Amino acid sequence: MAKKTIRYSDYFAQTMERMRQDGLLLVTADAAGKPNVMTIGWGAIGSIWGRPTFIVLVRPSRYTYSRLEELGEFTVNVPPRELAAAANLCGTVSGRDHDKFQEAGLSLIPGRQVRPPAIAECVVHYECRTLHRNDVAAEALVQAVRDDCYPSGDFHRVYFGEIVAAYADEDAARRLHEPAGALRTMGP
Ligand SMILES: Cc1cc2nc3c(=O)[nH]c(=O)nc-3n(C[C@H](O)[C@H](O)[C@H](O)COP(=O)(O)O)c2cc1C
Repeated sequence: MAKKTIRYSDYFAQTMERMRQDGLLLVTADAAGKPNVMTIGWGAIGSIWGRPTFIVLVRPSRYTYSRLEELGEFTVNVPPRELAAAANLCGTVSGRDHDKFQEAGLSLIPGRQVRPPAIAECVVHYECRTLHRNDVAAEALVQAVRDDCYPSGDFHRVYFGEIVAAYADEDAARRLHEPAGALRTMGP
């Protein structure tokens, strides 16, 4: 399946929906080029500093964290529903002691603008280069979120990645079950 360049906002609604459902696949690499993948359920696409941006939150305990600190580049890949089991695997075991690509049956395609690869079986891809990083500040966070999300500390580091390339399968809209560009309205 050919992957065509898209505008970074073309699949906004579908990307957010898939993140909420099974999660997205965040791929990093070390300086030697060895890739790793983990599932993310929290993140945002936006325009910051006049640049298209993908924000991801990664806890320091993740293997992915050390990769992001080393290279500062990543790809975010949107899995179709058929990859739900793969997303679950990538979100429950660590690349420290697993080859998740092999175990989840995922194959790699080279990044176009960044060193980490993308995942062939996913249907929308964002390539990102970190512009800024900071840590969730415990003292500035409402107590309810602290209690819900950080009972043991391990506060996320927030990575603001400039989207330097975005592309999708030609049939991505059909495979993600919603028309490209459609924004879901808030409501019950
Ligand atoms: C649906 C789902 C969403 C997740 N979202 C995040 C996230 O946004 N940030 C994070 O740090 N961990 C998240 N995790 C946990 C990591 O994916 C998990 O700890 C993973 O095994 C880390 O892999 P690594 O050690 O190879 O980096 C999520 C897990 C699942 C199953």
